[in-house]
Amino acid sequence: MAAAPSDALVFFGATGDLAYKQIFPSLLGLVREEGLNVPIIGVAKAGWNLDQLKARATDSLQHHGGSDPKAIQQLLGLLRYVDGDYGDESTFTALRQQLGQAKRPLHYLAVPPSLFATVAQALAKSGCADGARLVIEKPFGHDRATARTLSRLLSQYFPEENIFRIDHYLGKEPVQNIVYTRFANSMFEPLWNRDHVSSIQITMAEDFGVQDRGRFYDETGALRDVVQNHMLQVLAQLTMDPPTGEEHEALRDQKSALLKAVRPLELSDMVRGQYVGYQSVPGVRAGSTVETFVALKLFIESWRWAGVPIYIRAGKMLPVTATEIMVRFKRPPRETFDELVPVSSGHVRMRISPDVSIGMGVRVKLPGERMVGEDVEMLLTEHAPNLMPPYQRLLGDAMRGLGELFGRDDIVDAQWRIVEPVLDDSTPVYPYEPGTWGPDEAQALIGSDGPWHNPNPAAETAA
Ligand code: BG6
Repeated sequence: MAAAPSDALVFFGATGDLAYKQIFPSLLGLVREEGLNVPIIGVAKAGWNLDQLKARATDSLQHHGGSDPKAIQQLLGLLRYVDGDYGDESTFTALRQQLGQAKRPLHYLAVPPSLFATVAQALAKSGCADGARLVIEKPFGHDRATARTLSRLLSQYFPEENIFRIDHYLGKEPVQNIVYTRFANSMFEPLWNRDHVSSIQITMAEDFGVQDRGRFYDETGALRDVVQNHMLQVLAQLTMDPPTGEEHEALRDQKSALLKAVRPLELSDMVRGQYVGYQSVPGVRAGSTVETFVALKLFIESWRWAGVPIYIRAGKMLPVTATEIMVRFKRPPRETFDELVPVSSGHVRMRISPDVSIGMGVRVKLPGERMVGEDVEMLLTEHAPNLMPPYQRLLGDAMRGLGELFGRDDIVDAQWRIVEPVLDDSTPVYPYEPGTWGPDEAQALIGSDGPWHNPNPAAETAA
């Protein structure tokens, strides 16, 4: 039976950056495309009133939301505002009043992680948590132990099916397409294993630095910021077994099983880097050893994947902004012709952002008398980024009680288990120049499984 939709949407951190860049535009999309028509209550400690929140929303939508005066007016008409400290009971009493008749509110905690527990507790104490759903921003915990503590605390007030741990990568259309392409065709499955795949690479490159997020980033680093969550979710989509049966948790069950089979990282499996100039970003501590780049080698201990090296690379200030997967197939078992088939010739390439494409690489004969060939890539799909922002998709799903595109307690725990042994200053951090592919040590990590596949910049039309 479908769960009843939430009848109010509360977002904490209403005056913050995430609300400005992501939440207001997503709410507009929900109003315009899905007829969202429930009270939307912003909460923050800013000394603001409702008019100021509306002005902020209008400004956000001008910059990030597109023009649709009718939908904007509708959204502004649904907005309410509660100002107050998250440590004050009165803030939550005021929220309870604003909720009025709502019986199934959704509370979205777009606040710093240090406040998750405080807000959840206060929601429960004030009666605002009754029948409610809770959406939690990342990072969920700072390590395995703190994530477990947070989970235990939340579970006192919210049943697991009402907790939605956001990983916005799961709201991205091309991340869904990984699973779709794999399981809507039968041709990939026989190839998708240790018999045919020689290595897998996932690169998440960004050509910008940490910008105005110095303080947040310096407590986080690349491993916690994007690997523990986004990259491991992408890896799970790419390598998990096909979901079976009719259970609505089938997909997350397979994902969980896969992540539990990933061998926890060892120190020698990782290279950390920091771009030159990071130290002068406001908010970054002097002498910081936090990584802005990381390259990893992983293995999955399963019959399907045993022995297949998996390389993940993520970094700021790299030459391009693009996230791309490269699945390389084994070379032919012997050279039949008068040439050496390159390692890169048989592959599946999946580009997740900023533009989207899936390509299959094969080697074909060059016209002529000689039996020599060239590598070609057949494009299965190629298009501009999807217009629905990930946050719109995810908030809409959470409002309807659909949890498939969110983290789950056991999944988040399995993700922490993988990175836990190499967190913080476990290995040296090597400097790299902005605009390069990270420190040279990353080349040594991939060694003969290389070269690294460096994604191309976005095509102009797709940018
Ligand atoms: C966020 C990270 O979760 O993801 C950022 O905190 C990163 O550091 C961002 O830039 C990347 O997301 P996207 O959707 O722009 O690829």
